[in-house]
Amino acid sequence: MSQSYNRGTVEDFGRWRDFSAGMWAWIFHKFTGWVLVGYLFTHIAVLSTALGTADLYTSTISGLEALLIVRFLEVGLLAVAVFHILNGIRLLMVDLGVGLESQDKSFYASLLLTGAIVVASVPTFLGGALV
Ligand code: HEM
Repeated sequence: MSQSYNRGTVEDFGRWRDFSAGMWAWIFHKFTGWVLVGYLFTHIAVLSTALGTADLYTSTISGLEALLIVRFLEVGLLAVAVFHILNGIRLLMVDLGVGLESQDKSFYASLLLTGAIVVASVPTFLGGALV
């Protein structure tokens, strides 16, 4: 027998207050997955400048890296990528039936590890921009 649930209306955005850890994990995974797809296009566009002269590629890269906003976006990209990878590995483990009893804990561990890696990366990403 299938069961039906009253999930409320789509417009009822206030429901986010009741979201469980699993719901946040699902939202973050979707968000980060699609941000990575979006970044792929940017990445290809920037790398495509290498099809022109070597000077064009070098000036594109150094021009971008000279912008502080780009350095911040790189930190954000790392956060998105690391979370997607860690949470993705966690999901694959869940699919294999590993750690079913501690899914919330492993989600929080993914968040903490992502935070630690991102914080550790800040000197590298922002260092060059601030000198
Ligand atoms: C080691 C790297 C990665 C791992 C382990 C990983 C893992 C996963 C897993 C397990 C899912 C399915 C989640 C589910 O069960 O619903 C997923 C979804 C997805 N991933 Fe990844 N992924 C990785 C890299 C990437 C990259 C590089 C991109 C983009 C270029 C990407 C984009 C997406 C998208 C768009 C989805 C679907 C999101 C949705 O539900 O709408 N992933 N990933």
